[in-house]
Amino acid sequence: INPLRLGLIGFGCVGQGLYDILQKLPEPGFVVQRIAVKNPSKLRPLPAERFEFHADDLVNDPELDLLVEVIDDPNEAFRLVSQALQLGRKVATANKAMVARHLPELLDLQREFGGALLYEASVCGSIPVIRTLDSYFGQEPLHSVSGIFNGSSNYVLTGMTTAGVDYATVLAEAQAQGFAETDPSLDMAAFDPRSKAVILAAHAYGVLLNPDEVLNLGIESISSADIRFAAERGQKIKVVASLLRLPAGGATVFVTPQFVDADSPLYHVEREFNGVVVDAAFAGQHFWRGRGAGGHPTGSAVLSDLVALRNGFRYAYPKLTETTAATSVAPDLELE
Ligand code: HSE
Repeated sequence: INPLRLGLIGFGCVGQGLYDILQKLPEPGFVVQRIAVKNPSKLRPLPAERFEFHADDLVNDPELDLLVEVIDDPNEAFRLVSQALQLGRKVATANKAMVARHLPELLDLQREFGGALLYEASVCGSIPVIRTLDSYFGQEPLHSVSGIFNGSSNYVLTGMTTAGVDYATVLAEAQAQGFAETDPSLDMAAFDPRSKAVILAAHAYGVLLNPDEVLNLGIESISSADIRFAAERGQKIKVVASLLRLPAGGATVFVTPQFVDADSPLYHVEREFNGVVVDAAFAGQHFWRGRGAGGHPTGSAVLSDLVALRNGFRYAYPKLTETTAATSVAPDLELE
């Protein structure tokens, strides 16, 4: 079979990760036909002829079978992806901020024009959480989904816990390793995991939340003394995203530093790793741990979307009609 032709929009950490994976696989089934980037003068690991500078040309190229959008800017990403969906195209994106903010519009565009958008890479990198919640747990009620959704802040917390070094030093390390966002305050102030929590809420509970209404607190004010205090009580401080089903319908979602006990699977999720705990009505508890950041792990998630798109897969959002209330409330609720 002929490999499918890809239009790759963006050649940063994730774009390069995907490109490299496709070079390493003996029969990847996909070939990167065109690559669009923003900055013509940046030094890149491929010959300059491989790059072009008008992403719109890729969106409009009927010779491309699938589009991959892996740029940083959520507004530009939304413009390009909307345009692609209006042309009925199939797109894979890793842009969590874009998906979290625009999911209702992105769903409308797919319904109206018949295109498809997958975004497994947008949440927890290589942990296959979105498709699992959407398909495997499509019918099953979930009590809670919680986890560590940000590798950079977890890396910083781990560094502060184990080596006793300070915040600024470990943050510089996380940036050097390529886990952090271009603007690392998105990681440290928990905007990044908040986007991921909003996306998972759509697939776990069928609620479409406005990210601005979800509480997010990061690690900027956590000190070594706080970490020592937790350790003395046998706990660790982790930035945990909590998505809790409300007995009356809907869900409450918040991302905050939390004390985590040693018997929680999240206690053992260290460095840039992510972890997700799902508590399902019939399946019981699941725990997934994996790499949530970095070129290869995130590229691997994009590749899984490309295979799914090739197979005609679309998210079913099976629970989207189940709850009408898009609810996010203060975290101190009495829960069932
Ligand atoms: N900056 C993100 C993180 C990258 O640290 O988890 C993956 O979304």
